[in-house]
Amino acid sequence: MTSSAKEAEQLRAELLEHNYRYYILDDPRVTDSEYDRLFRQLKMLEDADPSLITPDSPTQRVGAKPSSKFASVKHRLPMLSLDNAFSEDEFRSFHQRLVGRLRSENVRLDDADATPGQELAYCCEPKLDGLAVSLVYEKGLLQTALTRGDGYEGEDITVNIRTIPTVPVKLRGHDFPDVLEVRGEVLLPKAAFAEINRSAEAAGEKVFANPRNAAAGSLRQLDPKITASRPLEIFIYSTGYLSNEADWPDSHYERLTRLRELGFRINAEIALVTGVDDCLAYYDAFATKRPELPYEIDGIVYKIDSKAIQQKLGFVSRSPRWAIARKFPAEEVQTRLQSIDFQVGRTGSVTPVARLNPVLVGGVTVSNATLHNMDEIARLDARPGDDVILRRAGDVIPQIVSVIPAPASERGEPVAAPTHCPACGADVVREEGNAVARCSAPLSCPEQRKYSLTHFASRRAMDIEGLGEKVVEMLLDARLVDTAADLYTLTTEQLETLDRFAAKSAAKLVDAIAASTGAPFNRVIYALGIREVGETTARLLAKAFRSMAALRNADQTALEAIHDIGPIVAGHVVEFFDQPANLEVIDRLAAAGVTMAEPEDAATGAGDVSPGGTQEPGPFAGLRVVLTGSLETMTRDEAEDRMRALGAIPSSAVSAKTDLLIAGAKAGSKLKKAQTLGIKVIDEEELRVMLAPFV
Ligand code: IVH
Repeated sequence: MTSSAKEAEQLRAELLEHNYRYYILDDPRVTDSEYDRLFRQLKMLEDADPSLITPDSPTQRVGAKPSSKFASVKHRLPMLSLDNAFSEDEFRSFHQRLVGRLRSENVRLDDADATPGQELAYCCEPKLDGLAVSLVYEKGLLQTALTRGDGYEGEDITVNIRTIPTVPVKLRGHDFPDVLEVRGEVLLPKAAFAEINRSAEAAGEKVFANPRNAAAGSLRQLDPKITASRPLEIFIYSTGYLSNEADWPDSHYERLTRLRELGFRINAEIALVTGVDDCLAYYDAFATKRPELPYEIDGIVYKIDSKAIQQKLGFVSRSPRWAIARKFPAEEVQTRLQSIDFQVGRTGSVTPVARLNPVLVGGVTVSNATLHNMDEIARLDARPGDDVILRRAGDVIPQIVSVIPAPASERGEPVAAPTHCPACGADVVREEGNAVARCSAPLSCPEQRKYSLTHFASRRAMDIEGLGEKVVEMLLDARLVDTAADLYTLTTEQLETLDRFAAKSAAKLVDAIAASTGAPFNRVIYALGIREVGETTARLLAKAFRSMAALRNADQTALEAIHDIGPIVAGHVVEFFDQPANLEVIDRLAAAGVTMAEPEDAATGAGDVSPGGTQEPGPFAGLRVVLTGSLETMTRDEAEDRMRALGAIPSSAVSAKTDLLIAGAKAGSKLKKAQTLGIKVIDEEELRVMLAPFV
């Protein structure tokens, strides 16, 4: 070994040790600047001689290039979910059930003489509100990191996971099995979440509803550099597959201790307790501590500590019998209702919004809450000056659950329904039997235009990077655009007249707009913002009509003939294409080169609809199908394409929504899951029979 190789090895070992002390033990031995010095020294050696770089080097966390999609990989052991308990009683009965079951199976509990029901050891853990991941180490090196996915198959996010400083890339010591899988939760601390949302808001981008979404969004980035820029953390909460399972302690708690020694970050609050009362006390203590924790938790997880007992108890459907999550009730706070304003949405709906004295609830500062419609205001009898009780549960937007009226003498008047649009002054109409009031000027109302343009440019629609709400607002204010079609004639010179744009950023936006002309037909339909036409309906319409010309001419009957499209949505589509102003925009989009049809070479079949005609629904129309196992007479892609052409919606994961599973040879967990869920299963031969008439 050369002297620089030795020096690099020495530096790597030192840096890994400092990382461990800093992130895992919370007990650093060197200053940050000393750490940086060592890091830079290693980087210098590696830059001078790249052959010195090893995959576990601390300099290599963000090495990988952005990818275009995540590969799907099977879990060695399924990743299950937890059953919930919502009260003390539910937890007690969970415990009683377990004790009863274990007694009836003559399982010896630790202390047979103890008070009945008090003898089981539980590991109590905060239920972290992040994203579950599985990390697999081979010979001590991080090999694969997967999301939970459907529990049986997850997405390969290894390059992104590597960027999280609290994830060891290499295990400590030498005493680890050849294959070691651990499971844990990736999360974003509350403060980092607030910061990300603050800058997203400033940039006119979409804000995340909660830290869990923000963590998931950060982790599922195709470019690991973006993941690396988010201060994600990890806590490991269990072992997974172990190639030397028998050598591990029976106690889950002791296993966690072992994992900590190997370099994993284990939550310091985890405690081993005996009996129900201590479990309940643990929960109570956390209910108080929760607001002060730097990260979000949504309950307490109780796990029977003994692996042997866990194994005896086994699973029912997707959850283990030996564990339960006791959820915290949704947090509620009281605050003052300052006023009630009206906002115009993308589809012209005029909704009342409660303006509140800012208040912290569930880790997020809330100053607005929707009141839905006039009926809701009347039901609550909410008036400015009253106090309101706000509830925020999980990712649900804060709800006003009740009103505490101000003293009669100080109470304001009930808020009247608006007669004119707050954005453009046009009449507000409220259809008979419909709670929603709407602005009657969809194309000229500036607020609606802002929403429809932002939607048009959004990631899942035309995906025009850099065209968020703020930029749309500037373009509208400067009268550079009126409708989506105007985007395609924007020039860099025009953009440069705006505050926010320099030559480079202007060119970038013009390029992004030009690139969006290639968005697939279904996303173009979605981008139009037709009422109640979401991504799935847009996909159905694209598949069925195949071109904008055919879709424009479709009548109510032709639309309703499509499986999953009902009379209301069909009505909205017809109404949209009845408006000359909309047709003009579409013609101009077509002239700009925006995709207006499905690709020519895509297979056609009986699921198709002739323009304006009625549909003969094929055997697969609207069916959600999953293919598993291997096929002999065709490839899986081919089978999927042929079914898709007949109206099927193929997907890779089995869920309660799946209509049909095609099980080829050696079908495994998906088949089992489909059987458990009572989903119809056919084999390759039956599939061929169904496809045969359409060759
Ligand atoms: S144990 C079979 N422990 O909760 C055991 N899960 O509903 C399953 N979670 O997907 C996991 N904190 O994302 C476990 N201390 C903890 C946890 C935890 C959060 C999440 C995890 C899992 C979900 C289960």
